[in-house]
Amino acid sequence: TEKPTALIMIFGATGDLAKRKLFPSLYRLYKRGKLSDRYAIIGVARRELTNDAFQKSVKTSIQAAIKDCDDLDSFVSHFYYHSHDVTDSSSYLSLKTMANDLDQHYQLDGNRIFYLAMAPEFFGTIAEHLKSDGLTEVSGFKRLVIEKPFGHDLESAKELNNQLRQAFSEDEVYRIDHYLGKEMVQNIEVIRFANAIFEPLWNNRYISNIQITSSEVLGVEERGRYYETSGALRDMVQNHMLQMVALLAMEPPIRLNTEEIRAEKVKVFRAMNMLEGEAVKENFVRGQYGRGTVDGVDVPAYREEQMVNPESNTETFVAGKLSIDTFRWKGVPFYIRTGKKMAAKSTKIVIQFKDIPMNLYYQTEKTLNPNLLVIHIQPEEGITLYLNAQKAGENVETTPVKLNFANSGIDGNTPEAYERLLYDCMRGDATNFTHWDEVSLSWSFVDKISEVWENTKAENFPNYEAGSMGPRKADELLEKDGFFWWPVD
Ligand code: BG6
Repeated sequence: TEKPTALIMIFGATGDLAKRKLFPSLYRLYKRGKLSDRYAIIGVARRELTNDAFQKSVKTSIQAAIKDCDDLDSFVSHFYYHSHDVTDSSSYLSLKTMANDLDQHYQLDGNRIFYLAMAPEFFGTIAEHLKSDGLTEVSGFKRLVIEKPFGHDLESAKELNNQLRQAFSEDEVYRIDHYLGKEMVQNIEVIRFANAIFEPLWNNRYISNIQITSSEVLGVEERGRYYETSGALRDMVQNHMLQMVALLAMEPPIRLNTEEIRAEKVKVFRAMNMLEGEAVKENFVRGQYGRGTVDGVDVPAYREEQMVNPESNTETFVAGKLSIDTFRWKGVPFYIRTGKKMAAKSTKIVIQFKDIPMNLYYQTEKTLNPNLLVIHIQPEEGITLYLNAQKAGENVETTPVKLNFANSGIDGNTPEAYERLLYDCMRGDATNFTHWDEVSLSWSFVDKISEVWENTKAENFPNYEAGSMGPRKADELLEKDGFFWWPVD
């Protein structure tokens, strides 16, 4: 394995993401032997902390995430802390001195990764200071890793991008979409492009529709303030859902490299039929949860959550029908749905194949189930293929059979999204990060929908019960086309 060398500065090192994802992921890389000894981490955040106290908190967060960890002391000995004011140049200058010292001490070849894991309003300011205060003058590589949200709409995303691009070139910007780090999301391409039984069928002649569901049980928890300005459309659709659509719909790349794959994904976004005005109402459904029962517990409505406007118009659920206007996909609806406080935490993709030309057999009422390919993204990882076989002892009656593959990795523990993405960034592989072209096109699509939603109050909110699978309208969206959401397991 390649063992990259770098100094990683994590801005927002006392925050939730750093503790829950970044520290444990770095530790896993270390345990798997993917980090050389030449690494150092600087935790950057506002509060005052000694290196010692910081290392302790890193240890605690790793222990909370991973059972049985050893070697922790030697791992965290490479962690340092810098108390920082993001708007103050002198703060950056002392950070620079610290960085240069560590660079020398650990022989990091002048490689630097700046990871912004904090409130988005500071992204631009930090990038500007990194440049003006000289932190980006390095002898090795410099990379900026940036968490979502990447803007609030196209205009603000452009503004942010311009700010970042003053200090970093496009190929030095690593925009995180953590769904792209998920094992089974990465597997979409492999399933499509490495299997002779799927590749020829992957088009409008054989596929009738595609359904992507990402449901969550959690509500907005303490994120009410952010969520009120975002809603499910910006929070999940603009990024994760559309990225999955792109991977399902893209043409085979001529080569498996970053540029080729991105170019194919960008083409999908360009071919997506833009919805405006009335078309938004016909093809997109918004929902907001009311009170209900989740896992046997009574829960409040969205409008009763902390930091949420009691008359909030914010959607906590979205379902939509997308069309991709290409030779391959014309006529095949891509249905997506995602929401908070739903019945289960689950992300799944169902590919429904067209019916065979003539039905000789029957299951119930002379209909035959179509073939389905289900890609289980989470919590289980795997693939199920639904076929029809003869029902034992009968000759005209069939029964659906399931071919199941459960992905369990080599040691029963597939790497986490953040672990892969951090490693990719350290190696300089940007394939599973989003290019500006993808971000801007997906915002253009989403902006048209939010425009309509922001200008018309949803009269029927709340319109789904917490613990359900969303509003009735989301079912009607498919019923209009003669389909339904497959309840697959
Ligand atoms: C994040 C959203 O991007 O994705 C959250 O901001 C959401 O609201 C989360 O809960 C879902 O991610 P996952 O990996 O749990 O499906």
